[in-house]
Amino acid sequence: MNEAAGTVVCGDLIVGAMAQSWRFLMQGVTSLLFLCARAAAADDDEYVRPPPCPLVLVAHDKPAWHPQQVHISVVGSDHMRVSWVTDDRRAPSVVEYGTSPGNYTASSTGDHTTYRYFFYKSGAIHHVTIGPLEPSTTYYYRCGRSGDEFTLRTPPSTLPIEFVVVGDLGETGWTASTLSHITAGGGGDYDMLLLPGDLSYNADTQQPLWDSFGRLVQPLASARPWMVTEGNHEVEALPGIPVVGELVKPFVAYNARWRMPYDDGDDEASGSSSSSTTSNLYYSFDAAGGAAHVVMLGSYAAFVEGSEQHRWLARDLARVDRRRTPWLLVLLHAPWYNTNQAHQGEGERMRVAMERLLYEARVDVVLAGHVHAYERFTRIYDNKADSRGRCTSPLATEATGKALLSSSSRTTSRRTCRSFGRRASGMAG
Ligand SMILES: *[C@@H]1O[C@H](CO)[C@@H](O)[C@H](O)[C@H]1NC(C)=O
Repeated sequence: MNEAAGTVVCGDLIVGAMAQSWRFLMQGVTSLLFLCARAAAADDDEYVRPPPCPLVLVAHDKPAWHPQQVHISVVGSDHMRVSWVTDDRRAPSVVEYGTSPGNYTASSTGDHTTYRYFFYKSGAIHHVTIGPLEPSTTYYYRCGRSGDEFTLRTPPSTLPIEFVVVGDLGETGWTASTLSHITAGGGGDYDMLLLPGDLSYNADTQQPLWDSFGRLVQPLASARPWMVTEGNHEVEALPGIPVVGELVKPFVAYNARWRMPYDDGDDEASGSSSSSTTSNLYYSFDAAGGAAHVVMLGSYAAFVEGSEQHRWLARDLARVDRRRTPWLLVLLHAPWYNTNQAHQGEGERMRVAMERLLYEARVDVVLAGHVHAYERFTRIYDNKADSRGRCTSPLATEATGKALLSSSSRTTSRRTCRSFGRRASGMAG
């Protein structure tokens, strides 16, 4: 918590060591200091975004067969998808792995995909699912029978579990600062990263920037699962240009590169609460052995009543058994509640379409991105404070929240929400 020291001055940003339940640790100090300085200078509540930071570009200086942009994501209760890119499209889609360095006692084969976007042609984007894996275990692995050895740790199969939540990550100097805060000494360890949209908003249609982003986040994203959903900068459809063939298909880069476990649900035998979807743009998964159910919604996929997403959400929430699953989390990009002028009202249609489903399922927390300004609400439903509603919190850009779910009692989760509402504070990004 070395960097975080300054945050205490700035209004209780650290909600650490809260009685037995929820720890929400805000980091991202460069921008935070900005907010502090500004708050001292003026009473004005209006939040002003800090100036942009230059892009951080990470070049690929290895041979074409060399695996790059390695990242991992959970699949079911005990598998992991390993994803990476090779410029050489003939490189094998194989992952070798084991629990000691260099001693690969198992291997799995998957496949690769490529995509085009105007004149850009991607490298081979490999996806290989490995497992079954033991929980809370470190594995050493290598992609494509060559290149570097990576280390991953599987999430725990019981509470506690610690999430890092970061929205609107980007690939600038702010991003580099945020990534270093996530791994910084006192910032400690975590089990899984959740990203409610806008992975690299700087890439937005500039495909080589997706590759650079993949290389920038590889040190973290190859070590812990990164579970993401889409934001507006993942759409990449160009206004006025019709979807012709594959040239400018919406979400083409996002879906090819950041494949999530949308189609592995409905496995009643595994005890999973997740229901499969037909789209990478929304899905759900269990964490901590089913003690937490995480629903990733798609702000930029159809969500109205009668849509596939709406029907799936109803089905998915209905399967959650709250005796087994005390924590129900929802992430989406465009917030349903937002007091900033920026992006005001953009989440409203989705809120009207879906809020009741979340309310009836007693969702604990909704986390959103998009606005680049941290704020949080008390429990709320249909624009009114409601003790049976959810905590909701649009996240800061390039700032992270850490959440430790460590209790299985519903009363605790209520108390947590009050603490969350009382203690969390403003944040610049
Ligand atoms: C590799 O791992 C296996 C299984 O854990 C073990 O039996 C074997 O001795 C290891 N080999 C080496 C060379 O360390």
